[in-house]
This record gives sequence, C-alpha cells and structure tokens, in this order.
Amino acid sequence: MTMLDIDYKHRVLQLKKQKNAVVLAHNYQLPEVQDIADFIGDSLALSRKAAATESDIILFCGVHFMAETASILCPDKKVLIPDLEAGCSLASTINAGELQAWKAEHPDALVVSYVNTTAEVKALSDYCCTSSNAVKIVNSIPKDREVLFLPDLFLGSYVAETTKRKNMYIWPGECHVHAGIKAEDINKMFASFKNADFLVHPECSCTSSVIYHISKGDLAMNSHILSTEGMMNHARASSAKQFLVATETGILYRMQKENPDKQFIPVKSDAMCKYMKKITLEKVYNSLREDIYEVRVPKHTADNARLAIERMLSIS
Ligand code: 13P
Ligand code: SF4
Repeated sequence: MTMLDIDYKHRVLQLKKQKNAVVLAHNYQLPEVQDIADFIGDSLALSRKAAATESDIILFCGVHFMAETASILCPDKKVLIPDLEAGCSLASTINAGELQAWKAEHPDALVVSYVNTTAEVKALSDYCCTSSNAVKIVNSIPKDREVLFLPDLFLGSYVAETTKRKNMYIWPGECHVHAGIKAEDINKMFASFKNADFLVHPECSCTSSVIYHISKGDLAMNSHILSTEGMMNHARASSAKQFLVATETGILYRMQKENPDKQFIPVKSDAMCKYMKKITLEKVYNSLREDIYEVRVPKHTADNARLAIERMLSIS
C-alpha cells in the first residue's frame, strides 16, 4: 500500500463515521478497497446487508447492478457507487425489450433472473436469484411450469442439470471473465494438485465439464460448484491445505488473508474483471466526500423489481 493509499484509507474511515455510511464490497474488489469495507461478500450476502442496514448512506464497492439492487431494497437511503463505468458484461447481454419478446414466446413461463441484470429486467421477472440460491429458487417452482432462466448460459445449464428440469429455457448470455475459464484450464491442473479442493464458480464455462466428471466419478479432486461466498465458507471449513480456485482472482486476497496457513491457486491467473477494478480507494474517497454517484431506480421499476428480489430473499 502506498503512502497515498494510507492517507485515503484514513480519510475514508473518518468520512464513513461522519456521514453514517456503510461500505459494502464484493469479493472481487481490490485489496485496499476490501480493507476499508464494513462487509465483504457475494451478491446475496450484500443484498441482505443492504436490506438490513440502519446507515444513511450505502457506498457500494462493486458493479452497477449490485448498487441498483441495494437502491431497490432501500429506496429511502442514499446509494452511491464510486464509478458509474463499473458495469457487467453479463448483465449487458439482455435488455427489457429482449426479455419482453422472449416472454411473449412463452406466455405461461415464470421468469428467473440472475441478480446480474438491470433493474428493468428484474422488474419484468418473477424471481431473482444469485449463484448461491439459483437451484433452490428453480426447485421452488412447480415442476409443470415452464421456466425462462437468464442471462447466464453456464449457470443456467448447471441449474438445469442439478434440478433435472426439462422445461427450462436458458438465455445464451455469458460473463467474459468466467466464460474464459475453460475445461482445458482445469484439466491442466488435475495432475499437479491431486489433494487440492477444487472450487468452481457456476458462471465458468468449465462448469458443465466439471459436473460431467463428478457424475462419472473420475475427478480425483474434491470438487465444489459454489458462489464466491460459498467458496469463502468452504475454504474456512475444509481440512484441505490446497485449493484450486476457478473464478475472478480478486477473491484470492480475502481467502489468503482469512486462511494464512492454506494455499490458494487460481485456475486462470488472468481471470480479472475490469469493471470490478474500476473502484479504487481514491474514487471511494471522492464518492463519500461529494456524495457521487447516486444510483436511483424509478419507483415503478423499483417496486416491480423488489417483488422478484423479495421472493428470492424469502426462499433462500
Ligand atoms: P457471486 O454472487 O457468486 O459473488 O457472483 C457475482 C458475480 O458477479 C460473479 O461474477
Ligand atoms: Fe459481471 Fe463477470 Fe464482472 Fe461478475 S466477473 S461483475 S459477471 S463481468
């Protein structure tokens, strides 16, 4: 950490107190940003923290759809994101018009939207879900109802495979970071790390291959398909000493910090989300100092999106 970072850290901590602000940070945030956060977690954990906070300001260190979710859940709070360009390539794969057209093709289907979507898309959905509860949400829907699952192809395929659901249609979206973690990348690691636990985020394109190997019993390693917080919990609880981690590499900082006697190895060391990394300590400081950039969702959209998010929170 540079002297400048230490200075920003000090000022951010002061401003947080003065303004009664809570800082929520996703597991992929830069180390120095994680270090000033009140809570670090996955999309579900951060939504819950946002919903429960008594602070006046929620400063969201993550990407835009996460700040929107906080604003939908807490319409009376001021929700800030330090950089409006912190988007998400996955959330951009479907817009409200495209979802409306898809729904028109399946008028009786229920729509399950991953949290990585815009507020407008959530507002047209019946349920929201995250990577930690997608299976549970789809399982809660009567078996005879068609399901439209969006926007992640790999998460959707994992959910369809796990729930054995045949009437589930999946939007062909992907996250550029996780789609880049391929079956070849994991196959290369198997031989070298025979005793490691293998942690895979369900957005990875290698997920289908991992499920196939698990079902055939030919994965020597202890493999787990988990959300980022699920990975954190597993790393803490497991007696393994080595872990192969298939997700965005920002999570390794927290994993290593909380488990100093264990070793964490990225399956793809350049799996980096440029949107998550838009949030720097300097921008966090400017955001708190100037109350920028406020994320607001129009009331009608927020009211409809909230129903889908609250259905998710009541099930998970
Ligand atoms: P998690 O909810 O598992 O943290 O995933 C969020 C995300 O954007 C993954 O790329
Ligand atoms: Fe979106 Fe992928 Fe970045 Fe997650 S890692 S925020 S899904 S672009």
